[in-house]
Amino acid sequence: MAEDLQIIEGNRADKYQALIPQVEALIQGETDLYANLANIAAAIHAYFGFFWVGFYLNKQDQLVLGPFQGPVACTRIPYHKGVCGHAYRTQESIIVPNVDEFPGHIACASASKSEIVLPVMDSAGEVVMVLDVDSDQLDDFSETDREGLQAIIDLIEKNYSSWY
Ligand code: SME
Repeated sequence: MAEDLQIIEGNRADKYQALIPQVEALIQGETDLYANLANIAAAIHAYFGFFWVGFYLNKQDQLVLGPFQGPVACTRIPYHKGVCGHAYRTQESIIVPNVDEFPGHIACASASKSEIVLPVMDSAGEVVMVLDVDSDQLDDFSETDREGLQAIIDLIEKNYSSWY
């Protein structure tokens, strides 16, 4: 695995373009699920300075906190709650420009103002986890983030079956 993250200057699209191959290098040859998710969360957090970046894993019929970077967070999210639950149920990514206007949003931290959540599917099409990225700025996420983060999700989905 690569041990250094090269953080480039530029707009968000440029940054995703530079980050994605580095994520690929980070996970190459490593089969531990939590080690890989921890490094992916850390890489996204370091690259963009988002308020919170982390994974909630589908286990025990709910979404349970996994590797993350940022302030301490809620540990368990029922499928029917929050932005994370919405992404789980719909199996689609969602951008919430203003979390106060999203019915059922779970406020783990009052500083969080906008967020994006993307589901991660296994080869059977089941949602195995979601990636949740929170910003302390309103309306901080666009299609650029959806595409960039989805490319990272694609890497997870491609390798997930060999992770333990
Ligand atoms: N806001 C999320 C909960 C997780 S925390 O923000 C880290 C939600 O509504 O699902």
